[in-house]
Amino acid sequence: MRNVDLARSLLKASIPFADTARRMKRRLKPYVPNPIHTGFSFDDGIGLLHALRQIGADLSGDVLEVGSGWTPVVPLLFHLAGARSVTLTDLERLFDETSVPTAMAFVHPRLGGVAQVLGMEVDQLAARLPHFRPAYVCPWRADRHPAASVDIAISRAVMEHVPAREVPELFRELRRIVRPGGLMCHSIDNTDHWQHGDGKGSLVDFLRYPTDSLRWRLSQVNTQGRMNRFRHSDYLALAREAGWEIVSESGRVPPDILRDVLRMKEAGELAPEFADRDPHDLATTATLLIARRGD
Ligand SMILES: C[S@@+](CC[C@H](N)C(=O)[O-])C[C@H]1O[C@@H](n2cnc3c(N)ncnc32)[C@H](O)[C@@H]1O
Repeated sequence: MRNVDLARSLLKASIPFADTARRMKRRLKPYVPNPIHTGFSFDDGIGLLHALRQIGADLSGDVLEVGSGWTPVVPLLFHLAGARSVTLTDLERLFDETSVPTAMAFVHPRLGGVAQVLGMEVDQLAARLPHFRPAYVCPWRADRHPAASVDIAISRAVMEHVPAREVPELFRELRRIVRPGGLMCHSIDNTDHWQHGDGKGSLVDFLRYPTDSLRWRLSQVNTQGRMNRFRHSDYLALAREAGWEIVSESGRVPPDILRDVLRMKEAGELAPEFADRDPHDLATTATLLIARRGD
């Protein structure tokens, strides 16, 4: 975590009416999505659909996405897969009139790959593409969302930003919102987002900061920069505790990240809350979790 990045995030967090300021800025200078980031969303969305198909999930029901952000590529993929309805949600309004067209323009040239994963024809998907009209709920409160109203709740790159104390409640609320027999399905980025910029530091660098240290607490002031640092096994345990049955889970452990963890452990650099944990679990950079709500 570089001092300059920390200072920038604190400055952004101190701007009054940041939501309104962002909307005014976007009116003057429209948001241009980074195609690399959109590509990551697309790949993760394909990963979610692939995993769901592997467990024989029915993709024709009502889908709710938690934390949709700027460009709804993942929900668009669920629309293509046959979802009856798609509802996007967010805490802060990032979605605007350019969001759906941007997602469509990104996905259109990639329909061949989508068709392969879904076992469908490209023409069928091309005909479905223009009919993507998601609902958008913002600000979204899980506890106000109707019970048993969706078949699949999904998220991508969101769970890691939900404060640690709120994840158990969110999993319980999603269990209430999803119909009996329905699924929740999360693609989670467990890496240190402070290291995403220049690619120089380790993607597990944040494991060195004790949760109660001043530096870590300052890093959590800006809501868009929050990270709970839960590891792969934490999400599985929390889902089970909330009453979900895990039907599919996988974690990615890149060898260089495992080496970083082992080096930090050896050098006594891990914060006390991580020092005694399984290095593989600490080095799991991505989590894919599918859980079922029993009857
Ligand atoms: C990194 S963005 C990911 C956006 C999008 N899912 C994607 O993959 O491009 C995280 C999003 O989650 C939203 N978010 C964070 N916590 C949330 C919560 N508890 N409920 C709903 N949205 C949340 C943020 O406002 C932000 O839009």
